[in-house]
Amino acid sequence: MNEFGSLNNDFLSTENRSFFSQLADLVYAQRPVHPLHILRPEILKKNASAFLSGFSGTVMYAVKSNPHPDVIHSLYEAGIRYFDAASIEEVRLVRRVAPSAHIHFMHTVKSREAIREAYFDHQVRVFVIDTIDELHKIVHETELANDLTIFVRLALPKNQEANVDFSAKFGATPKGAAFLLHEARLVCSKLGIMFHPGTQSSNPDVFFKGLGVVRDVLNRCSGITVDCLDVGGGFPAPYPQRIIPPLSTFFDVIERGIREFELQNLELYCEPGRALVAEAGLLVCRVEQRKDKALYLNDGIYGGLVEAAKWQGALSFPVLHIAQDPSSPHTPEDTELSPFRFCGPTCDSLDMMKGPFYLPQQIGEGDWIVVGLTGAYSNACRTDFNGFGQHRFLSVDF
Ligand SMILES: Cc1ncc(COP(=O)(O)O)c(C=O)c1O
Repeated sequence: MNEFGSLNNDFLSTENRSFFSQLADLVYAQRPVHPLHILRPEILKKNASAFLSGFSGTVMYAVKSNPHPDVIHSLYEAGIRYFDAASIEEVRLVRRVAPSAHIHFMHTVKSREAIREAYFDHQVRVFVIDTIDELHKIVHETELANDLTIFVRLALPKNQEANVDFSAKFGATPKGAAFLLHEARLVCSKLGIMFHPGTQSSNPDVFFKGLGVVRDVLNRCSGITVDCLDVGGGFPAPYPQRIIPPLSTFFDVIERGIREFELQNLELYCEPGRALVAEAGLLVCRVEQRKDKALYLNDGIYGGLVEAAKWQGALSFPVLHIAQDPSSPHTPEDTELSPFRFCGPTCDSLDMMKGPFYLPQQIGEGDWIVVGLTGAYSNACRTDFNGFGQHRFLSVDF
């Protein structure tokens, strides 16, 4: 449960009044003309601590979900020392913001230049592959380095319980993974196997099933020592109207799988993104025009609301209304709510979100809408399309 409550706009229970009034004060102080991302480092700290104390291996932050330097810095301060980078830009960013961090370069398709720079300029020693070509690239570009850790990424059977199933795009089959483990063992100092069950996996059993596939692959690799196991990201964030088990259940299921499939001797990693950062972000948008039940906002799917569009019907985002007139900051307690849809600012008619987003009936031009759970894949996905890229980012202490 977060301040927005378990249901859309059910956030204004008495205990959340102070959150709302601090938020309203901030919006009135800023009166943002452009989209404003608000980061709550306290929430990052809380989530980092839940992972660090509950997960029995090393927790690595998936930078792609929110690469803002304040996020990386806050997570490092909160005790996260490992970072999963997907591109050379993310490698450079982490090295700059957290110089002593451990960086794993976890994209299975890397350019030769990226591999070379990561190894020689940023001390990256951990890489992932899902093809033999990628292994050859790494060996060549690191000039036959003798200190590499290579993870082989495994594709899992289709995960119906994730919002995006990555195995359609990345990962080797069990047979292919066994072959890659054999080949990689010849050239690396440490060998690992990894999977990603798919983002926003609401059922912890997907991790158990993933571990079963790992066992199957290892059984095909007798005589080969495998040192590390990375169970990926995919841990869910608490979007409204989604019933998800607590994180501790995911950790318990992973531990059970590790015992049952006898994987205890492997160094364990996970690489969460969304579950660490989604709750820590709020996005303040402004209503530029209202046409009946359609609210035309200054942000949309090419900006910070890409996920609200991508996952229409599957995930909903909590919203809050802040009236432009501070003397009437409506609260859901004293207002009747109606369903609205959102239109983003660009000329593309794909730039619409059907919601429904429940907001006060009197909402109109100049009012602000605060969208919750926008700490993951929101500012990370912004574009400048149509000249609407301008935005601000603010870290707060409430
Ligand atoms: C390799 C890898 N690790 C970790 C993540 C983070 O996943 P999530 O945000 O679902 O935790 C992703 C997401 O794309 C990924 O591709």
